[in-house]
Amino acid sequence: MNISIIVAIARNRGIGFENKLLYWLPNDLKRFKALTTGNTIIMGRKTFESLPKGALPNRRNIVLSRREGAAFAGAECFPSLETALSHCKEEEEIFIIGGASLYKEAMHIATQLYITFIDDASKEADAYFPEIKEEEWKETGREDHPTDEKHLYPYHFINYSRIK
Ligand SMILES: NC(=O)c1ccc[n+]([C@@H]2O[C@H](COP(=O)([O-])OP(=O)(O)OC[C@H]3O[C@@H](n4cnc5c(N)ncnc54)[C@H](OP(=O)(O)O)[C@@H]3O)[C@@H](O)[C@H]2O)c1
Repeated sequence: MNISIIVAIARNRGIGFENKLLYWLPNDLKRFKALTTGNTIIMGRKTFESLPKGALPNRRNIVLSRREGAAFAGAECFPSLETALSHCKEEEEIFIIGGASLYKEAMHIATQLYITFIDDASKEADAYFPEIKEEEWKETGREDHPTDEKHLYPYHFINYSRIK
């Protein structure tokens, strides 16, 4: 099963504050859409609640929640990552889309990381991405982007594959 993590991380590994993203980066949103459309996205309950228009279109949306009877419009809900994955087919492309608690759990089973690094650490954060250990991940692709009128900070799209 191909399980990827997709995330936007600041220099201090911050990914969110008060259940909101730290940055609004149109090119990052485009990349997110291109990679995940037609595939399966798995997210924690808080990340689902942070989506401005609810479930994302043209993707299989899966939300994790331990709450009994939890239900989310446009999404399937499972009580654990393991149960969710057991309801996915071998050929499905699965993207773990956050938040912090789910990234931490999924780092051990993910085979690819699609990281957007934002070259800034000025924003206050209360949710963080785990350390990407050099000995576990090999860089397989990289695009560096300077600032422009829509992107206030330089940013880098970096892909990793698991080496062990
Ligand atoms: N920068 C990025 O790319 C990015 C992407 C996504 C999110 N974020 C940020 O991340 C922050 C949210 O992260 P978070 O860790 O607080 O919340 P989260 O992971 O989105 O949601 C946590 C909730 O999900 C459920 N959950 C998580 N793992 C589960 C599991 N294995 N089994 C069953 N249920 C599980 C639980 O829900 P119940 O309490 O209902 O049981 C848990 O309380 C926000 O600030 C958001 O903006 C950033």
